[in-house]
Amino acid sequence: MSNPAGVSAEKIPRHIAVIMDGNGRWARERGLPRIEGHRRGSESVRNCTAACMEAGVSFLTLYAFSKENWQRPPDEVKSLMGLLDRFLAERTAEIMERNIRLRAIGHLDDLPEKTRRRLETAMEKSAGNTALTLTLALSYGARTELADAARAIAREVRAGTLDPDTIGEATVSSHLYTADLPDPDLLIRTSGEMRISNFLLWQISYAEIVVTPKLWPEFGKEDLFAAIREYAGRHRRYGGI
Ligand code: IPE
Ligand code: IPE
Ligand code: MG
Repeated sequence: MSNPAGVSAEKIPRHIAVIMDGNGRWARERGLPRIEGHRRGSESVRNCTAACMEAGVSFLTLYAFSKENWQRPPDEVKSLMGLLDRFLAERTAEIMERNIRLRAIGHLDDLPEKTRRRLETAMEKSAGNTALTLTLALSYGARTELADAARAIAREVRAGTLDPDTIGEATVSSHLYTADLPDPDLLIRTSGEMRISNFLLWQISYAEIVVTPKLWPEFGKEDLFAAIREYAGRHRRYGGI
């Protein structure tokens, strides 16, 4: 049985992570302000989420705002936070209707208070939903995440609740923000840039990477299905032969 992506069910990635890049370039190409690109980008979030659900993907993680993105001009940061706030205000009902569990990873305390509260409400409300786990990476940086994990582990050792000799990969994984998520199988980056930009460094160790030249605001369902097909055709060896 083949699904909307055109591949058999066992070849569908369980977890897709996306570096949603190219909003600014999309706007510039059209002589529009950058924020217009971000606005259109939030439409792509809806399409991509729907496409993942159609294809039977269980986890979708979207890089929405990095730790480093705070360095952008204050106007742009403010607009991006405004869009996030609107997304939460307008889409929570839809998230519930579609049985989506909303989560977030990153330093959520950095977000404007009102937006953080909206986010927390949406996460609490949707915690029991089961169709798709949608994780937004907000004020997220992978190195910060690893440093946070190191600090948490060190505290447990100091408190005497963790024996340093037992620290292994599972200890680190379980102290990351993603402790309850499987590692991504497929990492997609839009707009052609061949870099990771501090996203999920630990978790993508064996992810298959697909970089598409499409800019995020023009990334649609068919593009997501095409990335899944490319993934399905790969041979994951994990160091074997
Ligand atoms: C991605 O688009 C959105 C965020 C990083 C918030 P960009 O804003 O980075 O778009 P480009 O890379 O300038 O085209
Ligand atoms: C990565 O995109 C961050 C997000 C998509 C949120 P950037 O546009 O910030 O990354 P660089 O600056 O090209 O590395
Ligand atoms: Mg960019």
